[in-house]
Parts: sequence; structure tokens; C-alpha cells
Amino acid sequence: MSQKPRLKAGILGATGSVGQKLIRLLDRHPWFEITALAASARSAGLPYHKAAHWLEPTSIPEAIRDIEVKTPDDDLDCDFLFSALDSSTAREVEPSLARAGFPVISNASAFRMDPAVPLLVPDINPSHAELVCNQPDFAPGFIATNPNCATAGLVATLKPLDVAFGIEAIEVTTLQAVSGAGYPGVSALDIMGNIIPNIPGEEEKLEEEPKKILGRLENSAITPNVFPVSAQVTRVPTVDGHLLCVSVSLRRRADISEVRQVLTDYRGELTHDELPSAPSHPLQVLNGEVGPQPRLHADAGGGMTVTVGRLRPCRVLDFRYVALVHNTIRGAAGAAILNAELLASRGLLSHRSQAPQGSTLCEPEYQRACI
Ligand SMILES: NC(=O)c1ccc[n+]([C@@H]2O[C@H](COP(=O)([O-])OP(=O)(O)OC[C@H]3O[C@@H](n4cnc5c(N)ncnc54)[C@H](OP(=O)(O)O)[C@@H]3O)[C@@H](O)[C@H]2O)c1
Repeated sequence: MSQKPRLKAGILGATGSVGQKLIRLLDRHPWFEITALAASARSAGLPYHKAAHWLEPTSIPEAIRDIEVKTPDDDLDCDFLFSALDSSTAREVEPSLARAGFPVISNASAFRMDPAVPLLVPDINPSHAELVCNQPDFAPGFIATNPNCATAGLVATLKPLDVAFGIEAIEVTTLQAVSGAGYPGVSALDIMGNIIPNIPGEEEKLEEEPKKILGRLENSAITPNVFPVSAQVTRVPTVDGHLLCVSVSLRRRADISEVRQVLTDYRGELTHDELPSAPSHPLQVLNGEVGPQPRLHADAGGGMTVTVGRLRPCRVLDFRYVALVHNTIRGAAGAAILNAELLASRGLLSHRSQAPQGSTLCEPEYQRACI
């Protein structure tokens, strides 16, 4: 039986920390093959292995080593793009590439809160993908985004609680790994033996993004959830894995065993059978008092499983727990790949060079799937 040809993927920001993780996770992907790499003018013109300061634990895939790095302004031979650009570059580059016909699957924060752009977590809010069908500002392509890395861990724990009990309010304090700052990121002299009690812009993302992700899709628009979130963030000297200390109050009264059961039973809205990168367990719940820990649990489920531990009553809100998310996989590259898989499964990832400027772009079969 002949296999469907793989879709051609380009990566913007391919030399950075998330770009490298995308390259590693996409190696031998059943649906996608990397055919274009782009970064800044500093890297353009070089073969990839000379442009990138490679940080992944396996060597650069053979098929990637000698691809010439381009800039986003060059001709990019691909059907769709992953973007791992910094936010200010993304704000300029992503719309123009979408308008040139590319579906852009972005890690950057630039358009996450744009009402026309889905802030997508396929195992949590797959129906929000419908928003890509109507983005006149970016047509004939579109932009779809994944959340901030700490938000990705928080919403994975909030979704089952919201469905079962409703969420009244959240307090969260994060201890975020240095890989979250990209490469070279924070200076060793600033972070070794130290904790930095702020990451500019991060608290606002944690306070706003969960409400959009857990919002309701009504008449092709998202009505955000209303619970308040109070966030405090810190940068700590771990490498991978953001830890979140969460307190939550619920709309419906529940005892601790019910809350534990709901978190333990949660499987999300997708399975690995549907999308290759979907975790079979989006959450794992630990017993005992010493987990989760970044070194022990960040790689759970290939980095796509969020780990919860220390679930207990809270004297101020109702319950508290500690959650751990792999920030560059579940919180970045793995999340973007899962988004691309969801959109590909709905026939949405081809280059849209044929569609007229400004038109909306859903194929009839996808519009049916969205209803
Ligand atoms: N790290 C995480 O845990 C994480 C999690 C979630 C989301 N994100 C988001 O993902 C994005 C990438 O993060 P990162 O940690 O991978 O950053 P990074 O390591 O600093 O990489 C930035 C990439 O963007 C490229 N670039 C910079 N300026 C450019 C320009 N003017 N034109 C084209 N390319 C340009 C760089 O290319 P050169 O090498 O040529 O300079 C590099 O490839 C950011 O928006 C970040 O907020 C990161």
C-alpha cells in the first residue's frame, strides 16, 4: 500500500533552543519532513551544522546537517512553517509569511492573545482550531499558536478540574529552568547558586493565557473563562523543567480524594492513535511527598506528560499541588508539533498559494469537521 507523502515543514528560528528541539523531535516524523531552515542574517548562507550551536543530546540528523540556512525573506521550499522566533521578530515575520500562503505554527507570544488566532492545546481545546478558518488579516495562510511554557503545565492540570468542578481562582508560583530563556539565555554568573525573582512579561502570560485556552468557542470566537489567576515567577538554576506551586479554589465543593481521582483519570481529548505526538497520559499523578522533581520527571511521556504531586488541602484556597512541565517539549517544540498534527489531520497544512488574498480558507470537509 502506498504511503501518503510527508508534508514539507520549514522552521523559522531553526538555530535557537526551540528550533533545535523541533529538529530533534521531527527526525523520522511519520507525517512531516524538514525541507527549509531559517534564522537571522548572522546564520544565513551557512550549512546548518556551522550556523547552530547544537545543544541537543543526540547529533544533528544527517538529513539536516548540510541544509543551507536562509532568512525568512528568502524563498522557503515547504508546505507550512514552524516558528521559533523571538516575539518581536515574530510580530513582523509571521503575518507576512502567512499572507504569502503559509500556515504558521508559532511558539512565539506575539499573536497568542489575538482574538482571531487559536491558542491551541490539542488535548485540551481542539475545537479552537476552527479559528484558523477565518483570519482575514493573515489569509490566505494563517497563524496558530501554543501557550507559554509555564502556562502549558498549568492548563494541563486545570482542564480536568474545570470540567469536573469549575475553577474559582488560582494562585501560582513558578520555578523556571534556564532553557526557558533560550540560548545563551541568562548569564551563568547571574543564575548559578542564585534565584532571580522575576521574568519580564511572564506573569502576565500566566494570568491571561489559561483563560483563553479554557474559554468557550461560541459563534467562531472564544469567550474567555473568568477565573482570576495571580502569578509570581522565578528563574532557578535547573536546565529543563518548570516547576509550578499551584493553589486553586473550585466552584463546586470536592474532597481531596475526588480531586485526586479526577486528575488521575484524565486522558485528554485526543489519543496517540489519532496524532503521533499526543501523550497517552497528558497528566501523571504521584503519591508521596518528594515529587515532582525536574531531574526525575521532566521527561515523563517523552516530555509531553505533565507531572502532579503533593496534592493536599490549602488553608487559604481549597487545594494545592506542585506540577512539573518540560518547558521546551510540552511547553514549546512538542506542543507546536502536536498543533501541526491536529491541523494536518484536518487537511489544513498545505501552502495556500492558490487561494485569493483575503479569502477565508477552510476546505469544506474541515468546515464540516468543525461543526
Ligand atoms: N525556550 C523555551 O522554553 C520556550 C518555551 C515556549 C516558547 N518559547 C518561545 O519560542 C521562541 C524561541 O525561543 P528560543 O528559546 O528558541 O530562543 P533562542 O534560542 O534565542 O532562538 C531564537 C531564534 O530566532 C532567530 N532569530 C533571531 N532574530 C532573527 C531575525 N531577525 N530573523 C530571523 N531569525 C531570527 C535566531 O537565529 P540566529 O541563531 O541566527 O540568531 C534563533 O534561531 C521565543 O518566542 C520564545 O518566547 C520558548
